[in-house]
Amino acid sequence: MSDVTLITGACGFVGLAVTEALLARGGTVVAFDRAAVPADATARFAALPGRIVPVQGDIRSESDLISGFAAAPVTRVLHAAVITAGPAREKTDAETIVAVNLQGALAVQRAALAHGIARFVYPSSVAVYGQQPEGAPPFTEDGTWPRPVMLYGITKLAAEQALARLALVNGLSFAAARLGSVFGPWERDTGLRDTLSPHHAALVAAVAGREAVLNTPTRGDHIYVRDVAAGLIGLLDAPALSHAVFNLGSGVATSAADFCEALAAVKPGFRWRVAAQGEAANVITHVPFSRPALDISRLAGATGYAPRFDLAAAAADALAFYGLSAPLRA
Ligand SMILES: NC(=O)c1ccc[n+]([C@@H]2O[C@H](COP(=O)([O-])OP(=O)(O)OC[C@H]3O[C@@H](n4cnc5c(N)ncnc54)[C@H](O)[C@@H]3O)[C@@H](O)[C@H]2O)c1
Repeated sequence: MSDVTLITGACGFVGLAVTEALLARGGTVVAFDRAAVPADATARFAALPGRIVPVQGDIRSESDLISGFAAAPVTRVLHAAVITAGPAREKTDAETIVAVNLQGALAVQRAALAHGIARFVYPSSVAVYGQQPEGAPPFTEDGTWPRPVMLYGITKLAAEQALARLALVNGLSFAAARLGSVFGPWERDTGLRDTLSPHHAALVAAVAGREAVLNTPTRGDHIYVRDVAAGLIGLLDAPALSHAVFNLGSGVATSAADFCEALAAVKPGFRWRVAAQGEAANVITHVPFSRPALDISRLAGATGYAPRFDLAAAAADALAFYGLSAPLRA
């Protein structure tokens, strides 16, 4: 493939998964991140046919972005750098969250425009829908009124809307993908994500041979990261885009308990249970309310997207990934 994709946040969870999928089909990835490419990723990627060009920099720095775009003839951008802030960070560092998640997104788009790229894709989040009334139908891009709760979701919605508007006035082909709650290979603590998935903690427990003790496992659209990568690449590749905003999920509402059940089926001896009242849990679902699934029909119609990993397939694939790689980091 002759695509050259600049991915910001390439050394994070979603960024590494998309990088791996693009390298697997022979693409070139400029991996732009403030962090270095993790050693286990470098080792895995070396076996793939594509080429990775790592560039360490900050999206808030114009000169760093210039270096990123100069590293290879970039044709499209996936902007995935972000701070996924929990309440403690919201209290102490709101300005940095806004500077990275909103102003940083606009800076990356400006740099992309200066380089005449063909497509700009932005991973947004189910967090833009926020808390909806109990029993709400599946979230749809135009039918569900966004009601983000936390600063993360607020900045994701603001960035999504600002990027779409500025793409329109600048004639840039743009798509935002509202991702469900992602889990699977490459998830790790980047120091900038305060809410790791309960599935990650369950995998840590399974790999370590520990019992998984869950807090209240609320339901929502949990999507395996390899399906996220396929969906985002579908948006990068699509010859034309029908809309600016697409849901990208599994299309079903599941819980961490459902995942543990699937994990137990493929990992003999794995034990899990929901914590008794007052007992400390080691598998934390951060969203305190249940959400319906994402309606993924728009993306399916536009790109042919269909999730490949149900919970059973995801559990088996994730275990295989961690069984063969460096120990899973908590
Ligand atoms: N993980 C999920 O469940 C989830 C759900 C919905 C949407 N998303 C979206 O997916 C995208 C990627 O999220 P993730 O889960 O991979 O997060 P992550 O924390 O794993 O990765 C983010 C990466 O961005 C980098 N980064 C942060 N600030 C930077 C800066 N100023 N300059 C350069 N690099 C910077 C970090 O070093 C990190 O490698 C984001 O847009 C996020 O909102 C993720």
